[in-house]
Amino acid sequence: MKIALIGYGKMGKAIEQIAQQNGHEVVLRIDVNNIADFTAENLQKADVAIEFTRPETAFENLQKCLEAGTPVVVGTTGWLHRLEEAKDLCAQHQGALFYSSNYSIGVNVFFAVNRFLAQMMNGHKQYEVRMSETHHTQKLDAPSGTAITLAEGILEQLGRKTKWVNQSDAKADELSILSHRVDPAPGTHEVYYESAIDSIEIRHTAHSREGFASGAVQAAVWLVGKKGVFTMSDLLGF
Ligand SMILES: NC(=O)c1ccc[n+]([C@@H]2O[C@H](COP(=O)([O-])OP(=O)(O)OC[C@H]3O[C@@H](n4cnc5c(N)ncnc54)[C@H](O)[C@@H]3O)[C@@H](O)[C@H]2O)c1
Repeated sequence: MKIALIGYGKMGKAIEQIAQQNGHEVVLRIDVNNIADFTAENLQKADVAIEFTRPETAFENLQKCLEAGTPVVVGTTGWLHRLEEAKDLCAQHQGALFYSSNYSIGVNVFFAVNRFLAQMMNGHKQYEVRMSETHHTQKLDAPSGTAITLAEGILEQLGRKTKWVNQSDAKADELSILSHRVDPAPGTHEVYYESAIDSIEIRHTAHSREGFASGAVQAAVWLVGKKGVFTMSDLLGF
């Protein structure tokens, strides 16, 4: 498979390594220094584009890929407020778009466990729930896209919480997410349920970027030949 890498930073480089190890070829590498090469003609030389850049450029980048007719896997976080627009664009161009705030298989298992735990806790009001996430200091968005997905999973299941807040001081109907930025830290997410008599904690810790990179390559292989908008639940079936 021929891959265009949009964004050639930490993730772009990790994806290149995994892609090459799996027999794929990287035919285009775009970063801030060669934006002029980010053309429809160059994109069309690839079977699929994988986009890991910055929150403020992700939408424009996926738009270019859809306009060029190149299926695109987006890993950048912090742009999902424009997801509906992206879905419309994808339908308009009869294209293929895959997005996820986290491509790690383990994190997606964690998402499912989180939803199940929240569903069970809905009837047990003695438990107060809160979350925390820890990432490296270069991370631009807070809370992380993964923390937001976890929070949304809780809010869907737990009637006593109506929204998340990115602070420790939360009202009774708010879910507190604390964001910590320390180096080095590829990413840790924790969900705590605490009552007067006991506590339950679930935690996912990434040990490296490899899990994100191999999941993104898996998604790219899966996406080629499909039309529509997909995410990890479509790929994994849960
Ligand atoms: N979905 C996931 O599983 C997952 C995992 C890790 C990181 N991320 C997200 O991926 C994104 C990138 O992370 P990173 O650690 O590789 O960052 P990074 O800062 O190391 O790399 C970003 C790259 O994007 C390039 N870039 C910036 N603006 C651009 C533009 N307009 N067009 C093309 N390239 C551009 C930069 O030159 C750089 O090469 C972040 O949003 C991060 O939160 C997602």
